[in-house]
Amino acid sequence: MHEHVISEVLAMDPSINSVTISGWVRAFRSNRFIQMNDGSTLNNLQCVVDFESFDQEILKEINVGAAIKVTGPLVASQGQGQAVEVQVQQIDILGTADPEEVKLTILSPKRHSLETLREQAHLRVRTNTFGAVMRLRSKLAFAVHEYFQKNGFNYMHTPIITASDAEGAGEMFRVSNLSAENPPKKENQAVDFSKDFFGKETHLTVSGQLEAETYAMGLSKVYTFGPTFRAENSNTSRHLAEFWMIEPEVAFNDLHDNMDLAEDFIKYVVRYALEHCQDDLNFLEKRLIEEDKSKPQNQRSPMPLKEKLAFILENNFMRVSYTEAIDILKNSKPNKKKKFKYPIDEWGADLQSEHERYLVEKHFECPVILYDYPAKIKAFYMRLNDDGKTVRAMDVLFPGIGEIVGGSQREERYQVLKDKMEAMDIDPKELHWYLDLRKFGTCVHSGFGLGFERLVQFVTGMGNIRDVIPYPRTPGNANF
Ligand code: 4AD
Ligand code: MG
Repeated sequence: MHEHVISEVLAMDPSINSVTISGWVRAFRSNRFIQMNDGSTLNNLQCVVDFESFDQEILKEINVGAAIKVTGPLVASQGQGQAVEVQVQQIDILGTADPEEVKLTILSPKRHSLETLREQAHLRVRTNTFGAVMRLRSKLAFAVHEYFQKNGFNYMHTPIITASDAEGAGEMFRVSNLSAENPPKKENQAVDFSKDFFGKETHLTVSGQLEAETYAMGLSKVYTFGPTFRAENSNTSRHLAEFWMIEPEVAFNDLHDNMDLAEDFIKYVVRYALEHCQDDLNFLEKRLIEEDKSKPQNQRSPMPLKEKLAFILENNFMRVSYTEAIDILKNSKPNKKKKFKYPIDEWGADLQSEHERYLVEKHFECPVILYDYPAKIKAFYMRLNDDGKTVRAMDVLFPGIGEIVGGSQREERYQVLKDKMEAMDIDPKELHWYLDLRKFGTCVHSGFGLGFERLVQFVTGMGNIRDVIPYPRTPGNANF
């Protein structure tokens, strides 16, 4: 017999002769009402057993956490809280769960802190919160592809193992199969990576951008969506050592086209979530309201979750140059009262998340795109402006998140790029292929990277990035 998932069953007319559904027991009340969930939706299916007509041995095994399969007619529910329910005629225990052991886990039906859930990350997707977050994550990933595919972009797979440092920041994990105890050495005692698997030193990629640029120079519009890795020792609620990044790259786009693309893209995926994930968003919104009650007033969300998402759709992102932003920050109250951990006193300072959040949350009160940053604080590949000191960089800053997108127009002039690489101690020989693009039909082009987990954080309202990816990798933690 064809089995249904609960999301389908809940949408059916209550006149179906018989349905069969498998799932996990969330609750079993009065020896009669099973709440079953299969992850297809936030909502449970109520399954009613007439306990007198069932074997005690079977009833004994209907415990929280057990996997079961039920069959019976779907009927209109007499009780409150659900339109339909299953009158169980047959029940199979697929996998038992010992109540004594379940009691010690996050499957036990009571409130568990997000920290406790993280320690049992292999079970947490069976909670309402993580079911909702992970369904949203999946839908958002689909929306990302839909947006680019609808707009004529080609999905490109960039390498995960690479010999180049795309950001030039040296925050990479080495990939090697040399012996850890006794690696081959050169005469000067340095490890001899020419004996390593690839005949050179290699790392996990920090960004697919450089390779994406090569493909944009042939396919015009490309995007990547894959895992990226950063060995930065940042223990914050917005950094992961392994995260997923979406990187469009477009030939003939300048910085302003790039900003338009970023804004249009983000609005598309946020709208998609609002239209396709109502139940989960409603649940997460209520969850946040509860969570806020235990927070001081100034740390509470200024708007309910869905209102916040709608606000993003309805308002233009404010476009502000770095120079204007520095003026605002210099004259801001927290700067004058020395409330910033990193005070802003001069042009050229790198912006910290406290500054980004001040601009977005306090000053402009809407998403902000900062552009034209000082060349000194940005990567080597960004297009130098005519002033000789700023580059065509842009960061999109979001409320509660800070930087969600980082991008730029790329330096398309061979000599300028080569000089800059040398000045920044990047070997042009290693990136000869990247420089080649500037020799054979170079053109204005631009792209950006959006951190997928930061987007999922924004849409779900989850405060910690560790709670929007199934198995977070952070300094000191690679469990599961
Ligand atoms: O600003 P980033 O470092 O830019 C790049 O990597 C460019 N190559 C992108 C491009 O132009 N194609 O990173 C881009 C975005 C950030 O804005 C942030 O959202 C996210 O990636 N990100 C991280 N997310 C989670 N954990 C980390 N450690 C992150 N580092 C960056
Ligand atoms: Mg950045």
